[in-house]
Amino acid sequence: MRNITGPPVVGDDFFGREEEFNYVWSRIVNGNNHVFPSPRRVGKTSFAFKLLDKAKSEGWNTIDINLEKSATNEIDFLEAFVKTLQELSFWEKIKAKGNSLLNFISQLRPSFTIGGAEAKLEWERERESVYSQVADLLHHDEKTLIFFDELTVLLTKILKSDADGKKKVTNFLHWLRSLRQVKDSKIRWIFCSSVGIENFTHQHGISDAINDVPDFFLKSYSKGKSMEMLAKLGHDNNLPLEKDLQSAVVDKLEYCLPYFLQIIFEKIKYLKEIENQPLEIKIVDKAYKGLIEEKHFNTWVERLEEQYNHNKQFAFAVLKQLCQEKKGLKRKQIINAIAAAGVPPEKTDEIVSLLLYMLKNDGYIMEEDGIYRFRSPLLRDFWFNRHVK
Ligand SMILES: Nc1ncnc2c1ncn2[C@@H]1O[C@H](COP(=O)(O)OP(=O)(O)OP(=O)(O)O)[C@@H](O)[C@H]1O
Ligand SMILES: [Mg+2]
Repeated sequence: MRNITGPPVVGDDFFGREEEFNYVWSRIVNGNNHVFPSPRRVGKTSFAFKLLDKAKSEGWNTIDINLEKSATNEIDFLEAFVKTLQELSFWEKIKAKGNSLLNFISQLRPSFTIGGAEAKLEWERERESVYSQVADLLHHDEKTLIFFDELTVLLTKILKSDADGKKKVTNFLHWLRSLRQVKDSKIRWIFCSSVGIENFTHQHGISDAINDVPDFFLKSYSKGKSMEMLAKLGHDNNLPLEKDLQSAVVDKLEYCLPYFLQIIFEKIKYLKEIENQPLEIKIVDKAYKGLIEEKHFNTWVERLEEQYNHNKQFAFAVLKQLCQEKKGLKRKQIINAIAAAGVPPEKTDEIVSLLLYMLKNDGYIMEEDGIYRFRSPLLRDFWFNRHVK
């Protein structure tokens, strides 16, 4: 197992999640689709890749599209989607239809992107027919696992594409839903979304378009599992860690995502090998302090800026307060914090409810017995460092 701190991990680099994997795979085999709505870096894409590998090894067709990379608009998406069908076992049967549709889409594309009024009209005229022709290409009697990564990124782009964005995104989600509703279909769908899909659909009143796809939240690792992972990382990367050091790392992180274990391991290795620090318990604190100064959590700041619209300043206010309280705060205290940030008194209740809901969905905070606090101490200390200190 290599010490990988960025791209999705596959094969021998993937550690753990055995129970979650068996559970989700058997749900898929039994006819369910899933969305993995966890925040950035929880390990969604790696987990989805593992499901795709399993599906392949069982003779399924698989489709894998990263919507963040390959789709800036609907036409891009439709084209990318049809192109992935070319690799599948049933392409021969649909080749003629598929190729002519690809041709047609590529003729629409330049006009769509240049965006002249006439050209846009043409796409608008053809839109429904293109969507239904793409739907027609799918063979529902062949076992197929389709994975769309970062679905909400495409939804946001469609939403913002023009004044009619909301209608378009609603139609898009309903189109996807209709593909999932085909009777006796052997196609299964998995979606990942680090930008909260639930927040997105809820905010725009379109939760019903995805309510047939259950969530599956990937968990952090238990203390035992985390120590096992550290032991394996140490063994395979020439930096064996004693049990007390493994234990100190886990106690420090508290909330152990495999990503956090990978980055702290990397930091310890750096301190030992480049800065000649002795491999003692003290090195854990040093590594942790190093991490909260770095860029690992920038996306968490950016997400508030991009997704929380006019409530972002209040979301910042809540988190600013929470990052100073290790033990957490009650709702009443949070209300006081956002009142101080300028929310009009008659609105505080409504805004706090929405923000706590969104921040929980997005993985920033958790709630236990009416107390809200940061889910990860590492993220909390990063936040403190960046926004308070
Ligand atoms: N099962 C695993 N075993 C080992 N490391 C893992 C595992 N899952 C995730 N990681 C670590 O987390 C990092 C991110 O994984 P991945 O890209 O799958 O997460 P993600 O949730 O899709 O992230 P993003 O939301 O940014 O796309 C990997 O580079 C690796 O360091
Ligand atoms: Mg990912």
